[in-house]
Amino acid sequence: PKRVRVHHLAEAKARGEKLAMLTAYDAVTAAIFDAAGMDLLLVGDSIGNVMHGHASTIPVTVDEMIPAARAVARATKRAFVVVDLPFGSYEVGPQQALETAVRVFKETGADGVKLEGGVRSAAQIRALTDAGIPVVAHLGYTPQSENLLGGPRVQGRGDDAVERLATDAQAVEDAGAVAVVLEMVPTDVAARITEIVGIPTIGIGAGPHCDGQVLVWTDMAGMTSWSPRFARRYAELGAVLQGAAEDYVAEVKDSSFPDAEHSFDK
Ligand code: KIV
Ligand code: NA
Repeated sequence: PKRVRVHHLAEAKARGEKLAMLTAYDAVTAAIFDAAGMDLLLVGDSIGNVMHGHASTIPVTVDEMIPAARAVARATKRAFVVVDLPFGSYEVGPQQALETAVRVFKETGADGVKLEGGVRSAAQIRALTDAGIPVVAHLGYTPQSENLLGGPRVQGRGDDAVERLATDAQAVEDAGAVAVVLEMVPTDVAARITEIVGIPTIGIGAGPHCDGQVLVWTDMAGMTSWSPRFARRYAELGAVLQGAAEDYVAEVKDSSFPDAEHSFDK
């Protein structure tokens, strides 16, 4: 399959073709999602919550992101692979952001990076873009700022907030971002941002009018008992996996596994 390149994102928006994106943190899931026709894969810093058992994305380090991103990039034939720059790895300024992104790019084979913030991150987005690194921006609810925002709450409610979101969206586009994630934004606000910016908007909890959608894979696959309201559970893989593990335990206990079929003759 032909690789998804940066111009395909803009072409999809122009054609009105929706972009499908899912997180992946390892080779085994990346290969499955790539084969399913995902346009983009996100090695999200949600790896902190989802895979490492942290309560937030704040503790995630670049050293943790790199092996995950490398595994996803290696296992992917078609999807555009985006890697999150974790908290603390770009906020100091454009130079810090560039040093982090260059390292991620050199060591992983990813196609782009993502960072949070609009106006406040515009100089970083410009520096990375000038260095040839495609950047996806992230606005609305930005999990790395959860302590300031007071937890996962809908952003962009109220006239002031809508104006600020529009200003941020315009700033990231002007700085060279190739797409922008809108997280937990009211449907009509996300629709308006999608109209005013030329780059694709990728929504998560932002309604159906964005140019694409992204979900955390464990939410959409039903791997955990709780998932956010905005995530549809397309499967109950957690229950399926627990059932398989219970069957395995039972068959080990009663010696029905392994049988002759799964053993070697001499
Ligand atoms: O880290 C992540 O999974 C994300 C998505 C929720 C957009 O940033
Ligand atoms: Na993230």
